[in-house]
Amino acid sequence: MTAFEPRVFSGVQPTGNLHLGNYLGAITRFVALQDSYPCIYCVVDMHAITVWQEPEELTNAIRSVAAAFIAAGIDPDKHVIFNQSQVHEHAELAWIFNCVARMGWLNRMTQFKEKAGKDRENASVGLFAYPSLMAADILAYKATHVPVGEDQKQHLELTRDIAQKFNYDFAERIAELGFGDAYFPLTEPIIQGPATRIMSLRDGSKKMSKSDPSDYSRINLTDDRDAISQKIRKAKTDPEPLPSELKGLESRPEAQNLVGIYAALANSTSEQVLTDFGGAPFATFKPALAELAVEMLAPVNAEMRRLLADPGHLDQILAKGADQAAEIAAPVIDGAKDIVGFVTSRRKRTAERSVA
Ligand code: TYM
Repeated sequence: MTAFEPRVFSGVQPTGNLHLGNYLGAITRFVALQDSYPCIYCVVDMHAITVWQEPEELTNAIRSVAAAFIAAGIDPDKHVIFNQSQVHEHAELAWIFNCVARMGWLNRMTQFKEKAGKDRENASVGLFAYPSLMAADILAYKATHVPVGEDQKQHLELTRDIAQKFNYDFAERIAELGFGDAYFPLTEPIIQGPATRIMSLRDGSKKMSKSDPSDYSRINLTDDRDAISQKIRKAKTDPEPLPSELKGLESRPEAQNLVGIYAALANSTSEQVLTDFGGAPFATFKPALAELAVEMLAPVNAEMRRLLADPGHLDQILAKGADQAAEIAAPVIDGAKDIVGFVTSRRKRTAERSVA
């Protein structure tokens, strides 16, 4: 079997406000992986435009996600942070993958069904093809591990299906060109921790989401102390006190959600939180949670504001990251083009020129 160098890739869309689900389910996980892997973290602006975005808001949102990455603790000097549209290799590989993926596969994607809603005829073609671009994001770097929240699991399974079909369809070419028995890795999702699926604060059956019309359903990374406290105070719960064991949270989705949020913020486990708070009413637990949330989020919030006050500096970080990303992706995409059978004389001529 071809061995692939371990590498982490993940992405966040610059659409609307980043919330606690993005932060605990994804961004804090990105931070945790920095010491173990070379990491590439991408602001996926091309994914964002699969639904309408106001251009100026999009620009600001791209910088906000980059600022959140850095404020949360990702080190742009050691790892790569960039926005997707600056590295054209993503779009090129996505096209090849559009021709590998099958309509039936994409038709099964629950996220497309949810986002397109009843008016499928009016959804953009980009929204339908979104998972091929996501596979291209990951495989342009031959990434082996992808940290995400639970809602991205199906997309990552599709990424594996695309890699597998490409490897299978072109197996002879891949071997002939000296790439061994697989050109793309079968990427492993990393979906871990107590916060892989943070739910809405208003409805424990819906996930916390940027697109929920009620701002009380989510805690935004930009919320101040008062907003955080008020949203937690108003969060929907049931009248029972907290149980002492996990089993007692079954069929209590709102309670389970708040316990999970506490555990993730405290870098602990839901079991431990119940050991500490078992028997406590929400009148005791909610203020403790609010205090912890404010304590953990305030420094991130302050650092984001500081970074966003100097957009030029953020743009430089994104430009440098894009250069580094392109350097890794370009040879991967060149190889894919050779495997497919494209004539690549222009690229080779340009490469010769730059050596001369
Ligand atoms: P996006 O922008 O919707 O979300 C970014 C990350 O946050 C996680 N997340 C959550 N985790 C826990 N609870 C929640 N309520 C919650 N809401 C969101 C998501 O799982 C995700 O990890 N398609 C992706 C972006 C993407 C990507 C990629 C990810 C594009 N290319 C390549 C990984 C690799 C998305 O829309 O994430």
